[in-house]
This record gives sequence, C-alpha cells and structure tokens, in this order.
Amino acid sequence: MSSALLIEDLVKRFATGKPAVDGVSFDVPAGEIVVLLGPSGCGKTTTLRCVAGLEHPTGGRISIGERVVSEPARGLLVSPRERDIGMVFQSYAVWPHMTVRQNVAYPLKHRRNNGGNVDAKVRETLELVGLGDYGERPVTSLSGGQMQRVALARSLVYRPQLLLLDEPLSNLDAKLRIRLRDELRRILKQTGMTGLYVTHDQAEAVVLGDRIGVMREGKLLQMATPQEIYNRPVDPFVANFTGAANVLLGKVLARSGERATVDLGAAGRLDAWTPQSLAAGDKVRVALRAENVRLGERGSANAFFGRVIERRYQGMQTLYDVEVGGQRLEALELGTAARHPEGEVVLTLPPDACWAYRDEGAAAIE
Ligand SMILES: Nc1ncnc2c1ncn2[C@@H]1O[C@H](COP(=O)(O)OP(=O)(O)OP(=O)(O)O)[C@@H](O)[C@H]1O
Ligand SMILES: [Mg+2]
Repeated sequence: MSSALLIEDLVKRFATGKPAVDGVSFDVPAGEIVVLLGPSGCGKTTTLRCVAGLEHPTGGRISIGERVVSEPARGLLVSPRERDIGMVFQSYAVWPHMTVRQNVAYPLKHRRNNGGNVDAKVRETLELVGLGDYGERPVTSLSGGQMQRVALARSLVYRPQLLLLDEPLSNLDAKLRIRLRDELRRILKQTGMTGLYVTHDQAEAVVLGDRIGVMREGKLLQMATPQEIYNRPVDPFVANFTGAANVLLGKVLARSGERATVDLGAAGRLDAWTPQSLAAGDKVRVALRAENVRLGERGSANAFFGRVIERRYQGMQTLYDVEVGGQRLEALELGTAARHPEGEVVLTLPPDACWAYRDEGAAAIE
C-alpha cells in the first residue's frame, strides 16, 4: 500500500532547549488514521505543524503522496497552501459572519480545479457530519460540537490528500467528546480520508487510530496498532502512559526469547513477557494493568497468595489494594458486585499481561 504521508528522521529545534521533535520516522498508508499520543510538550503539535508546513523543520524529510514537501538538507520547502492538506484544530476555526453553508463552501470557491457542483458537494458534506438541516443557520448560533463539525466539514469538502487534526475534541464537554469521537472515525472511514490525529487522551487514540504512535520528549517510542500498544508495549513509558499503573520490582532469574522469569522476593517467582534483551541478575520493573489482575483465581502460572488491604466500591466496578509478598498492586473487578472481602486472597497475574523492563528508576516512566 502506498504511503500518503512519509516522515523520515524529522527534527525540529527551536531557538532554545532540547529539540521539540527529535528524529521521528513513521508513515501513514493511504486511508489510514494514525494518532500521535503523548503528554503535554512531547512534540505532537510541532510534528503536525511541520507536516502542514507551518513550521520549518531543522532536519529530515517529509513526503506527502509521492512528493517531498520538506527536506532542509536540500533547501526544499513546499508552502502550506501547495500541500493539499486539510486541518482541524482545537479552537473552532469558523468564520463567524457566515452561515454554515457559506463556511463549508468557502474553501471550494477559493480553490481552482474544484470540479463539479459546489452546492452538491457542500450538501453532501454537511449530511456526512450530521448538519444536513443547519446550512442556513448563522454559524455563531451553533453549539461547540456543531461548530467543530462545521470546521471538519470545511476541511473535508475539498477532499484533501491528507487531513491533520490537533486535539479537535478537547474543547467539548465529556459526553459530546465521546459521541463526536466515535462519529469522527465513522466519517473519516466513510470518506476514505488519510488522517494524522494528535491527542493526549488515550481513549481517543484507541477509538480513532488504526495505529497509535506514542511520543515522549520529542521521540517516537512505539508506533503500532492499538491492540499492540495495549498488550505489547515495548517501553515502560508506553505501558504506564496507556494505563498499566502497577509496578512490581524484581530481578531476572532467566530469560528465553521474549519470556523472562522474575524473582519478586517474598512474593515468589513470576513469568513475564519482555521486549528487551534482559540477562539473569538484571533488576526489572514489571508493569501490569489493574484490569488484568485475576482476583480469586488460581491459574496454572503466576498464582500468588495476597491480602486485600482495602477495597473501593464504585458501582460499576471495584478497586482493590492488594499486598503480595510485601509489594502493592491495584486490581480492578468489573461488575456491580464486589466479590472479594478484605483479607486473604489468591490471585493470578497472567504471564502475557506482565511486562518486564530493565529498572531504570521511576524516571523512566514518569
Ligand atoms: N514556537 C516555539 N518556540 C519555542 N519552543 C516551542 C515552540 N513551539 C513549541 N515549542 C516547544 O516544543 C516542545 C513541543 O511542543 P508541542 O506544542 O509540539 O507539544 P505538544 O505535544 O503538542 O503538547 P500539548 O499536548 O500540550 O499540546 C515544547 O517543549 C514546547 O515548549
Ligand atoms: Mg499540542
């Protein structure tokens, strides 16, 4: 499959401080949605702005379709308006003095080669974003979510090669955000649009992305499908940032391929998966999701005796603080019944859900 966007070793250095983007490489195949996920300041927006041409990269190469649009080493830089991209930002970038229809028609009227009927394209796009009946409304009379749909329609109407979205849902209230998130994926898939989407919200990344790239301090740590990111994080920061908050400390007893046996001290031995070439004797941190702890189950591997110290009933789920051999972990039980009382408990930590990383201190994940 051809790449709609190819980024090779992208570097962006501002006048001060560490590079904002530090050797990032990835591609977005045509028709796919790639989400860049990471904490504030990790370089997501800067990457997007380099693709848009709003920022001048310091190094590397960016190609859109077959065309190189930026390569500083050769003094090559294509202007934003010649890149055939659409953009949607956090703020509702709509023209307040126009109606909904005029807003969406604007880009068509200001582009050559738009081919075909402007009215029909506008109507079709408004239908697509669920604003079919709102064409004649002044855009200022709309809600935040509706305005963001207008902004989206305005970027989709001329069918750009590539759509860039920078936290487009973050100004919306929680409920609307979830609805529009689900709808956004449907809309992008329906149009076959290629998208690069930036967010610091992991739930948004999982729902929207065909692939997720997790960034930290200007570097891309992992680019993979949501399932891989959630089940096979190659880096402890990726594990932690996507919600694997439990950490057990131990020492490697043996490793074979991607399997490691870890000595947890008083708790005993644990079998884990590892993406690293660990050696016997290495200190490790084992990351594990609260929802993967099996309380009350004695599995054939990684079964332990523990103690429920405290439980917090939350209605739809219950959180348990569990002590295992002098170490603490949190377990999550779904459902409205809290089945485990405080005190002794058996538990299983499925080997596939335990991920061992070389112990580089808590700083490696925070
Ligand atoms: N114009 C600029 N001049 C100097 N430094 C900048 C500029 N723009 C961004 N930076 C710095 O580059 C780094 C990356 O910023 P960027 O906006 O890309 O982060 P981000 O991942 O989008 O964060 P957020 O989630 O908060 O939007 C930050 O340290 C930021 O301070
Ligand atoms: Mg940003």
